[in-house]
Amino acid sequence: MLTKRLIIAAMFVLLLMAGNLQAGGDAARGAELAVDCADCHGDDGLGDDDIPRIAGLEKSYHFDQLKAFKSGERPDEDEMMVDYVVDLSDKDMADIAAYFATLPAE
Ligand code: HEC
Repeated sequence: MLTKRLIIAAMFVLLLMAGNLQAGGDAARGAELAVDCADCHGDDGLGDDDIPRIAGLEKSYHFDQLKAFKSGERPDEDEMMVDYVVDLSDKDMADIAAYFATLPAE
């Protein structure tokens, strides 16, 4: 099961590498950085009852939310997000946003 997932993930990353030139933000690099996000948002980014979906979010919206969590402008009441964005650079956030924008929203 895990192996199968890894193979699918690896194929996906290769696909993204092929396609990332058209987008602002390096989605393939974002996929690597997004591994931690899956702990809560799920491998597919669809979230669950308590965690919002981030798959398919519009890139600039996603980037702005990550910036806002990092700066504290967007309150993070359960303090779940802040630990994960605090060390991300603007490029990291742009790459992550580019990656999730490639995932289907459902
Ligand atoms: C420990 C669990 C956890 C992890 C890990 C986590 N998140 Fe979240 N995330 C949340 C929760 C809970 C919320 C809802 C927070 C709120 O709205 O106050 C959220 C909200 C968000 C939102 C806002 C969605 C919207 O529709 O506005 C984005 C974007 C997001 N997370 C992206 C990420 C990314 C990217 C990562 C990895 C770098 C990540 N999250 C890691 C728990 C987590």
